[in-house]
Amino acid sequence: MPSEKTVYQPNPALSKIAYVSSLNQYQEMYQRSIDNPEDFWGEIAKQFHWETPIDINKFFRYNFDVTKGPIFTKWLDGATTNISYNLLDRNVRNGNGDKVAFYWEGNHPDDYSRLTYKKLLEEVCRLSNVLKSKGVQKGDRVAVYMPMILEAVVTILACARIGAVHSLVFAGFSADSFAERILDCEARVLITSDGVWRGEKLLQLKNICDQSMARCAQKGHNVETCIVVSHLQRVTAPNGTQIKTNKTPMQEGRDVWWHEVVPQASTSCYPEWMQAEDPLFMLYTSGSTGKPKGVLHTTGGYLLYAATTFKYVFDYHPNDVYWCTADIGWITGHTYVVYGPLANAATSVLYEGTPFYPDNDRFWEVVSKYKVSQFYTAPTAIRALMKFDDSLVKKHDLSTLKVLGSVGEPINPEAWLWYYRLVGHEKCSIVDTFWQTETGGHVLTPLPGACPMKPGAASFPFFGVQPVLLDESGKEIKGEGEGYLVFSRPWPGLMRTLYNNHDRYESTYFAKFPGYYCTGDGARRDADGYLWVTGRVDDMLNVSGHLMSTAEVESVLTEHHGVAEAAVVARPHPVKGECLYCFISTTDTAHFDDKLLKDLKQLVRERIGPFAQPDVIQDAPALPKTRSGKIMRRILRKIAVNDRDVGDISTLADSAVVEQLFSARPANA
Ligand code: WT7
Repeated sequence: MPSEKTVYQPNPALSKIAYVSSLNQYQEMYQRSIDNPEDFWGEIAKQFHWETPIDINKFFRYNFDVTKGPIFTKWLDGATTNISYNLLDRNVRNGNGDKVAFYWEGNHPDDYSRLTYKKLLEEVCRLSNVLKSKGVQKGDRVAVYMPMILEAVVTILACARIGAVHSLVFAGFSADSFAERILDCEARVLITSDGVWRGEKLLQLKNICDQSMARCAQKGHNVETCIVVSHLQRVTAPNGTQIKTNKTPMQEGRDVWWHEVVPQASTSCYPEWMQAEDPLFMLYTSGSTGKPKGVLHTTGGYLLYAATTFKYVFDYHPNDVYWCTADIGWITGHTYVVYGPLANAATSVLYEGTPFYPDNDRFWEVVSKYKVSQFYTAPTAIRALMKFDDSLVKKHDLSTLKVLGSVGEPINPEAWLWYYRLVGHEKCSIVDTFWQTETGGHVLTPLPGACPMKPGAASFPFFGVQPVLLDESGKEIKGEGEGYLVFSRPWPGLMRTLYNNHDRYESTYFAKFPGYYCTGDGARRDADGYLWVTGRVDDMLNVSGHLMSTAEVESVLTEHHGVAEAAVVARPHPVKGECLYCFISTTDTAHFDDKLLKDLKQLVRERIGPFAQPDVIQDAPALPKTRSGKIMRRILRKIAVNDRDVGDISTLADSAVVEQLFSARPANA
């Protein structure tokens, strides 16, 4: 394995054509972005259309210090624009109307299609008009629960065109989770599809939406309109046949088929001019208290940041084909499937299926089919694919690849090297992009033509980003060292608030260290100034790139009448990165048996989603607690990995509990 000192130089051929071709050039540009943000971002803003021009005196203002007043960030205040206009109309006017915006590749290899910029604009206008006819106005929230189909992109941009705030929920979340999110943002319109095939599995999305809407109705909130894409009948099922009749139940007066309203609507729709600081979208992310947080992004700054990070981090050039495998329901799908690529008039692949269908080489097959030049995926996918024979990669022509991206969790050096050698033929740059739903776009990352790479290091800040490492007392760690990863000023893409909950925004991200945005991650700076993200420092865990909190899983487990108390910790997992290890104390009347185990796993799937299913559930007649009753999770983490080096346990109320739990580890643990 490479050490921290092992450095991989970018391919000189790549550096030669790259926008930023040396570390020196990166450093100069970075310094300018910090010293003179007005100048740096102002120049970038010139490529875009501003209906009301930018006022240089109100370019950028913020307060990150809770002791000095409310936290806020404003970029380009007073300027107006429309994102869909900049992504579509502007590109069509610039001669890119016939350029392919998306190649859509279905779950089944027989299914594919494409959409040009001109056609995408028309479809967006049509849906915009339909939404308006349903009474959707500027500022209204629209809930979206969709698979990876072109209509998902159309939906996002139609909302942006009329100033509605889209709120996508990953279509792997359960009906309960979706309902909770619809209720929180009070969406009266929902957009979905009848269903989708993912590999061999059929997901009945509309049925899940029906359950969510019923749950909302019980709580007194009615979804008034549900627009449904009829998708299943136009695609090939895994057995090669087509579904003939659509059995999706539709509720009269509420549910409408997309194909019955959208094609009829007009292909022109004048965009709503939005203030730079008007909301663009919200997206929920897990919080350590359990209740999801509605991260809110606004218009002007997000546009600049999505566009600029996409251009430089992937070094996208006009004839490249780019592919990001992330689902549209996550922030990566928002910024790097939709907004960033379209702002650069890029051609992208939008893939509906899984890496494993029909075979475990589907990713490489798709890369060679579309001659992909930039490929962006998650470490968990890389680790899953590494397990298969090398021949599955080698048999495909991957010579068009230039940049390989990684996102979602730290990438282990072994996976990094496999990606670099086997997929990238030691010619591609790997960009290990660290960022969060909250940051809107990449904040730490190498630039492909400029930065010598170290496997596992997110490396350097993007333009305009100022990372700082702090120790527990809030003192800055300069030079080498490890600490809390925080940022001392906003960049244009930073979230502005949590929807309807500015207090929680301030307390979650700004209270711990006044003057800084706190990521919740730890990081280390090495002797060469590279940053290495070491993982969460709070009670969050990251399963296959899905962030969740121990608290939300614990609260679901204790809903079960047989569970008196639950404690959940993260355990390292070879493919998923981390998995859930749960300790359960049963109630007096309940028995810890296979039925309970099955019920609890099912309950978590139902309440949160399949990705949250625990790997291990251990019977814990007692939990290790301090005298004041606080569960000592650090000990539970040791038990989960069977590491008896538990450290000091003298503060426990009953230290015998520790040995009991070690000896009662389940056979499957
Ligand atoms: C958390 C944010 C950003 C899109 C996907 C996740 C972890 C993300 C990396 C990376 C180390 C990473 C962090 C972060 N994370 N990328 N390259 N190296 N850790 O978005 O669900 O908001 O999760 O993912 O812990 O805080 P998210």
